Amino acid sequence: MAIMFRLTWTISLLVGLALAISDELAAEFGYPAGVDVWCGKAYRSTNGSFEPGGWLEAPALSSTPLLDLSIRPRTNLYLASEKFASFVIDAPISYMHGSAYTNASFNKQTNITSAFTKLFIDVSVVESGLDLISSSNVTVNTTNNEFGFSLSGLTPRIEPYEIVITGASGDGAQFYTATTELYYIPERTDGGSVVKVDNLYGGLLVQDYLKNSTAFTPLFPYTYYTSWDGWLELSTDNIQVFKDKGYNIIHIVPNAGLANEAFDFDELDKFLDIMDDIELWLMFDMRWTYKNLSSVETQVNRIKSRKSMLLWYTGDEPDGQVDALNSTKITYDLIKSLDPYHPISLCLNCYNYYFANYTSGADIIMSDPYPIAVNTSFSVQYDTVCNTTYGCCGCDDCSGDFEDVSERLDLYKSYQAYLGLPQKPQWGVPQAFGNETFWARYPTEDEEIVMNMLFVNHGAKGIAMWDYPTEPGIANITGELSKVLTSTLISSFLLGSFEEALEIKGLQRVDAAAWTMGSSMLVSVVNKNYVDTAANVSISLPGAANAVSQVVWGSGWTINGSTLIKAGIKALEVDIFIIS
Ligand SMILES: *[C@@H]1O[C@H](CO)[C@@H](O)[C@H](O)[C@H]1NC(C)=O
Ligand SMILES: *[C@@H]1O[C@H](CO)[C@@H](O)[C@H](O)[C@H]1NC(C)=O
Ligand SMILES: *[C@@H]1O[C@H](CO)[C@@H](O)[C@H](O)[C@H]1NC(C)=O
Ligand SMILES: *[C@@H]1O[C@H](CO)[C@@H](O)[C@H](O)[C@H]1NC(C)=O
Ligand SMILES: *[C@@H]1O[C@H](CO)[C@@H](O)[C@H](O)[C@H]1NC(C)=O
Ligand SMILES: *[C@@H]1O[C@H](CO)[C@@H](O)[C@H](O)[C@H]1NC(C)=O
Ligand SMILES: *[C@@H]1O[C@H](CO)[C@@H](O)[C@H](O)[C@H]1NC(C)=O
Ligand SMILES: *[C@@H]1O[C@H](CO)[C@@H](O)[C@H](O)[C@H]1NC(C)=O
Ligand SMILES: *[C@@H]1O[C@H](CO)[C@@H](O)[C@H](O)[C@H]1NC(C)=O
Ligand SMILES: *[C@@H]1O[C@H](CO)[C@@H](O)[C@H](O)[C@H]1NC(C)=O
Ligand SMILES: *[C@@H]1O[C@H](CO)[C@@H](O)[C@H](O)[C@H]1NC(C)=O
Ligand SMILES: *[C@@H]1O[C@H](CO)[C@@H](O)[C@H](O)[C@H]1NC(C)=O
Repeated sequence: MAIMFRLTWTISLLVGLALAISDELAAEFGYPAGVDVWCGKAYRSTNGSFEPGGWLEAPALSSTPLLDLSIRPRTNLYLASEKFASFVIDAPISYMHGSAYTNASFNKQTNITSAFTKLFIDVSVVESGLDLISSSNVTVNTTNNEFGFSLSGLTPRIEPYEIVITGASGDGAQFYTATTELYYIPERTDGGSVVKVDNLYGGLLVQDYLKNSTAFTPLFPYTYYTSWDGWLELSTDNIQVFKDKGYNIIHIVPNAGLANEAFDFDELDKFLDIMDDIELWLMFDMRWTYKNLSSVETQVNRIKSRKSMLLWYTGDEPDGQVDALNSTKITYDLIKSLDPYHPISLCLNCYNYYFANYTSGADIIMSDPYPIAVNTSFSVQYDTVCNTTYGCCGCDDCSGDFEDVSERLDLYKSYQAYLGLPQKPQWGVPQAFGNETFWARYPTEDEEIVMNMLFVNHGAKGIAMWDYPTEPGIANITGELSKVLTSTLISSFLLGSFEEALEIKGLQRVDAAAWTMGSSMLVSVVNKNYVDTAANVSISLPGAANAVSQVVWGSGWTINGSTLIKAGIKALEVDIFIIS
């Protein structure tokens, strides 16, 4: 929202852009013409409320069990130089998606009916029938089964291969099928980077080119949306200044005021050359131009061979802006055809608005609920109430507390489950601005860390705060947090295992999560309360532990068997530590 209002105000002044959607689009959405909308809601006091639509509901549940077979490649692409790849196969019992499942399989030889616990699977290439995996099985009601296979029968190419999996009970009477796409693509010859998405743990995988490394290693991206014309552009030295703070990637917000609504690319090149030299990764933002396909093509071709290129960013709050429902996917398909080597991201702003359509054009879904110092029930900007069908308060359908952050991420997970889609990685956009429009003040440093870690505790695989420059104290403390989260030690937990929510006793509004690797566990505890407490607080661990081996933020806790204990927690305390 800040994104829209701060920067579109600038262009509104410059090129007279209106916020109303076109009459044609309004008609398609079923809205009255000439009404300004945000997340499909009328927000001016001169306009009345109407139903925005686009609300995704949980599907009706089946009364009988279903088997929901699905398959995805472990990483979103493989290179010609790779000889082996793997698929991740899920076969959960579900009441939401899948086909009928009866726990019985009949053996014709013996006339004995036994339990149906093994699903016999075959995986093949649709166009050629080539078998990639055959004569294998997965246990019914398990997920994340990984099967390796040889790539030797496939020819690398830009277009993905369509893959089909079939699964059957031993007697063949119960049968399931699913498809996926496999990118097996030519090696780069131009020195440009290749970035993979890990479809198991959700992290990005990169090659450390300064070390000439061909291995793909996890990267936890930690950055700000950085103002180009307001800061970065002022000096090429700012690149090193930014990296020295501790941030490992930079998201550059283009200049809406230029004729091309992007960059002076010759000037940008000087900055990108430095980024290439020091391996500061680039998140390339096309927010003002992403619907202009000729502009996208020019920009992608200009940037795609950079060593430091990490990922694309298309729609900035396309749901808030009520962009055409097909717009993110059309651009996604174009970018993939020009550059299959880098993932594509976008940021959603709405609570629940045409989620399927806008996210169909992304590999990575970001969200930006900004809950600090905001009135979420009455719009101070537009002098109207805000509710689920009306008004714009800066944080869509929010409560104006920290829970907005974790709830948004959890909801987006649920929406993907409702749609029966594999979970795309999510990144968080914590609020690092204020004293403007809807937000009365900046977050404090403590609030900033709480929001950051709530995203991380709920599974965010990257952080890009809005926006830089921010207040010096926030810049300092997030620089410190960046050094922790992007370290090899901590990112190996965050990107090499699943987060697990932990149960807390003794105090409400404490959020804790754990990540397990071998015999070590990373624990993150976030206190959302604004007051100190002297209460004894305890956290249940999934298993017993011996000792806190390292505290990387805040303080450690005492271990008693499989319980973490602390006598008293400070207001907004955040503790991050490793136990074993
Ligand atoms: C909406 O409000 C605008 C003024 O902001 C007004 O021009 C327009 O007629 C209103 N439209 C409807 C349908 O109420
Ligand atoms: C299985 O049942 C069929 C039909 O009832 C019968 O013909 C056959 O002999 C049975 N086989 C065994 C091994 O019992
Ligand atoms: C199927 O039945 C077997 C034997 O009773 C049981 O062990 C298994 O958990 C059941 N599986 C499912 C998915 O219902
Ligand atoms: C299932 O696959 C495993 C591993 O390949 C194999 O050991 C096992 O025998 C298979 N089970 C059945 C019932 O075929
Ligand atoms: C399937 O697995 C889930 C998650 O592990 C478990 O809660 C559920 O009871 C299992 N269902 C059956 C039928 O075994
Ligand atoms: C990487 O390769 C380049 C070119 O071959 C070489 O100049 C450079 O020293 C190498 N860097 C490292 C860290 O090995
Ligand atoms: C699309 O971008 C191109 C290249 O920047 C520009 O010439 C053209 O005017 C743009 N089209 C629209 C509709 O903005
Ligand atoms: C995308 O949607 C717009 C407006 O809703 C429509 O005019 C256009 O034809 C669609 N484009 C494609 C390629 O489907
Ligand atoms: C929006 O997404 C829904 C659900 O995937 C789909 O049925 C519909 O066709 C999409 N609409 C457009 C215009 O793309
Ligand atoms: C939201 O507020 C508007 C304006 O007061 C009202 O007309 C509308 O009925 C409200 N919507 C809901 C869902 O309460
Ligand atoms: C808040 O913004 C106003 C207007 O831009 C500015 O004058 C004021 O100094 C700012 N206050 C703080 C505390 O940053
Ligand atoms: C930020 O850190 C720098 C360097 O450590 C320090 O000089 C400065 O005082 C800090 N600023 C704030 C506002 O904390």
